[in-house]
Amino acid sequence: MTGAPEHREFAYTERDFRRVQALIMARIGIHLGAGKSQMVYSRLARRLRATGMTSVSVYLDQLEDGEHLEWQNFINALTTNLTSFFRENHHFETLVEYFRDHPASEPLTVWCCAASTGEEPYSILIALREAFGPGKPVHLIATDVDTQALASARAGVYAMERVSKLSRPVLRKYFHKGRGPQAGMVRIKPELREAVEFRQVNLLDGRWPVEAPLDAIFCRNVFIYFTPETQKQLLRRFRRLLQPEGLFFAGHSESLISSGEGYHSLGRTVFTPDPTFTGVSS
Ligand SMILES: C[S@@+](CC[C@H](N)C(=O)[O-])C[C@H]1O[C@@H](n2cnc3c(N)ncnc32)[C@H](O)[C@@H]1O
Repeated sequence: MTGAPEHREFAYTERDFRRVQALIMARIGIHLGAGKSQMVYSRLARRLRATGMTSVSVYLDQLEDGEHLEWQNFINALTTNLTSFFRENHHFETLVEYFRDHPASEPLTVWCCAASTGEEPYSILIALREAFGPGKPVHLIATDVDTQALASARAGVYAMERVSKLSRPVLRKYFHKGRGPQAGMVRIKPELREAVEFRQVNLLDGRWPVEAPLDAIFCRNVFIYFTPETQKQLLRRFRRLLQPEGLFFAGHSESLISSGEGYHSLGRTVFTPDPTFTGVSS
C-alpha cells in the first residue's frame, strides 16, 4: 500500500485531517502543520488495523468522548519521540558545572519533562554519576505524555547502535549487554533505572505533580510543537518552579525564549530566571 490517496486502505479526507489537528491541539497542545497529513494517515492506519475499524472518520467519532480508552493510543500514535543519548552534550556538561558550584545538602532536583524513551534522563544521571559518583543524591523526575514511550524508558532496553557513541567504560558501568535472544541489545542497570521516577504528565494539564524548587528543568525539543502562546504560558510556570539560580535547558532550535518571559540566556540554549523580572506571572 502506498500513501497516495488512490491507494489508501482507509478513506481519509481533508476534513479528517483537520479534525485530528483540532483534537490533538486541544488535548496536548501539538500543532500538526499541513505537511503532516500523510504522516497522520499512516500512523492512524495502524490504529485502525489494530482496532478493526474501517474508516478514519468513525475512528475519530469515538474520540469525541474525551474519556474513551482509545485516546491514549491516539496521543501515542501522533507524538514524535526522536531522541538520543547525550543529545546536545554541552547541556550535560553545563549541568555538572552547576552542581559543582552549588553544593547542596538536599538532593539535587531535576525535572526532565519530555523524556520520550528515556535516553535523556539516563544521560542526565550518567553525567552526574560520572562527575560525582553515587554519593551525591539526585531526585530525577522524568515525564512524558506518551505512555508507550514511558514504558520503553522504564524498561531501559536499547539497540546497540543507539549507544554506539558512548565510551566502553560508561557502557560497562551502566549497561548490561544482552545475550541469546537479547543479543544486539543493551539494558540500563537496575540501580540506574530505579533512580529515575518516571511519570505521565501532560504539560498542558493545570497541575503538575512536581515539587518546587527545582535545580534544573530539561524541556528540550518539545516546544517546537507548541504555539507561541502555549510556550509563553509554560515558560512562566516553569520559572516559578526553578531555584533562583536554577537552569532551564531548551532544545537546539528553541532559543526563542531568550527575552520577555523572565529568563536570561546563559548561552547555547541554557536559561536561568531573571531576578529583575517583574512581569505578570500567571
Ligand atoms: C522529540 S521528543 C524530545 C525528546 C527529548 N526531550 C530530546 O530532546 O531528545 C518530544 C517528546 O515530547 C513529548 N510531548 C509532546 N507533547 C507533550 C505534552 N503536551 N506533554 C508532555 N510531553 C509531550 C512527546 O511524547 C515526545 O516524547
